Amino acid sequence: MTNVNIQENTETSVTDYILAQETKDQLRFLTCGSVDDGKSTLIGRLLYDSKLIFEDQLASLERDSKKHGTVGEEIDLALLVDGLEAEREQGITIDVAYRFFATEKRKFIVADTPGHEQYTRNMATGASTADLAVLLVDARNGLMVQTRRHAFIASLLGIRHVVLAINKIDLVGYSEERFEEIRKEFKTFANGFDFETLQAIPMSARYGDNVSARSEKMSWFSGPTLLEHLESVEVGEHALEAPFRFPVQWVNRPNLDFRGYSGTIASGRVNVGEELVVAGPAKTSKVEKIIGAGGEVDSASAGEAVTITLEDEIDISRGDLLSSTASRPDVADQFAAHVIWMSDEPLLPGRSYLLKIGTRTVTATVSEIKHKINVNTFEHVAGKTLELNEIAFCNFALSSSVPFDPYEANRSTGSFILIDRMSNATVGAGMIWFALRRASNIHWQALAVDKQARSEKLGQKPAVLWFTGLSGSGKSTIASIVEKKLHIDGRHTYTLDGDNVRHGLNKDLGFTDADRVENIRRVGEVAKLFTEAGMLTLVSFISPFRSERRMARDLMGEGEFIEVFVDTPIEECRKRDPKGLYAKADRGEIKNFTGIDSPYEAPENAEIHVKNVDRDPEDVAEEIIGYLRDRGFLSSYSSDGEGI
Ligand code: ADX
Repeated sequence: MTNVNIQENTETSVTDYILAQETKDQLRFLTCGSVDDGKSTLIGRLLYDSKLIFEDQLASLERDSKKHGTVGEEIDLALLVDGLEAEREQGITIDVAYRFFATEKRKFIVADTPGHEQYTRNMATGASTADLAVLLVDARNGLMVQTRRHAFIASLLGIRHVVLAINKIDLVGYSEERFEEIRKEFKTFANGFDFETLQAIPMSARYGDNVSARSEKMSWFSGPTLLEHLESVEVGEHALEAPFRFPVQWVNRPNLDFRGYSGTIASGRVNVGEELVVAGPAKTSKVEKIIGAGGEVDSASAGEAVTITLEDEIDISRGDLLSSTASRPDVADQFAAHVIWMSDEPLLPGRSYLLKIGTRTVTATVSEIKHKINVNTFEHVAGKTLELNEIAFCNFALSSSVPFDPYEANRSTGSFILIDRMSNATVGAGMIWFALRRASNIHWQALAVDKQARSEKLGQKPAVLWFTGLSGSGKSTIASIVEKKLHIDGRHTYTLDGDNVRHGLNKDLGFTDADRVENIRRVGEVAKLFTEAGMLTLVSFISPFRSERRMARDLMGEGEFIEVFVDTPIEECRKRDPKGLYAKADRGEIKNFTGIDSPYEAPENAEIHVKNVDRDPEDVAEEIIGYLRDRGFLSSYSSDGEGI
């Protein structure tokens, strides 16, 4: 008997591969519970006790790849590599060990999620592909906070089958009374969770009672052993029963005569001749060929890696979703979703993240945290940010529409991950509930007079001069001189200044991280409107976070965003203290003061870096004007872009 323990850095590659196998019935489950409840012992016991028939699956993957037909081999290998690379680029490292074992009746994949503080994150990863959760409880302690938390997460992630493993029963004298007590308590607690099966089993993982062998010490228990239950529980084939969904991972175009779409079928089944639709543009065509690992096939289903060719030439690229026309996915750029936050850095509404759904990646912001969920009491609580391991129900706004299904209907096309744009780390996992229709009836109004027409009329090329730096660094002083000079030169300008905008548009905002993100998001949008009006726009805000400065940059046209870092050491700002704020902050009268108890992330590649100590602001302003002149912003503007 052998078994493997593969420490994987992508859960998809393993599941894809496993699913792609022609298998006997298989069950994916995860184990969870409090740290000391005996998870490892239980898994060890399961592997050791059972007559486990192990298949060296990695070796067979190699065999399969070699076996591929002409087109098949390349496609499949490219797919595998592609998949892995893509995940690696996004810095997804998930600390979940997958263990594979089999009995004569079933194959099993156990997602073993190590404990500690990152538990929620790891559990979310393991649970997203599991059908069943084995929830361990120490019979001496009964239900703990962790037990409830994990049951809740399992339910949120769509797990419908639970085993309540009441472990260490030997330490309570194999007591039926204690078992019943815990079982009843859990049953009452889990009432609202929608579990289809809930099997409580008294066991001692350490001595093997009721794991694979029936215990002689608990003749009062007439239920199955853990292994019997795992072998026989009916979990349904959700992925197969759901409508056909195929996220295009790769457009395979080796020559002009062949154009195939490669990927792994997320759900359902597809047949040659069937009509499919590209969600979004809603173009349809019929399936011409399906090429699987071993060559052409007439049909294929969930979990299989295939290449599909269509009868018509339609424009399909990586990230598109091919679906059955009979049951089309939703398409929207706003939706409501549950989010599990996995980063030490809090989620801030208004900040832009990368959202990866299927094979498509877009930018997205949380437009509103509707409520957080206290995972111990399930109460809804208000919140402005989301901390590590917290769960919330949020509204999302995306940079473009994406196809999806509600998570309840399809765990594959209904889930997404969030990636930090600066660190590239995975910071959250989400489960979509429904599209928000509010945006779908609002269309872009084409304006007869556009940015170019306005710029021509004003005879200038618009730009944003974005001044960032500590309070008291001299941003506003310099910006004001620059504006005066531009004005005298006949330019059309406008200045957005933090202190002023905070008296009007942003008077509802304070100085928490979340409020600063929203402050800069709004100012970025306003600055964009001013550039569209053709203005040379000066923005003077501390704007302490790289992420939001980048978001503002991305809103503007190429070359239009000019970041000016007014770099004045905090000691110098403190000395100047023009508004007496540093003194107040030092006395503890102002909280979250930038540079003191709130961070400032200095720009790394500002277009203009002003070291503002012992400098005459007039000279600095001239330097900035010089920059504008050198880049053609101060020549008269005509539609061909050339100065006159
Ligand atoms: S930002 O961080 O959100 O970009 P913003 O530029 O709008 O800040 O506002 C900064 C101005 O608010 C400072 O120049 C200062 O006058 C004032 N201020 C009041 N409280 C604070 C604080 N806690 N931190 C920084 N600035 C503060």
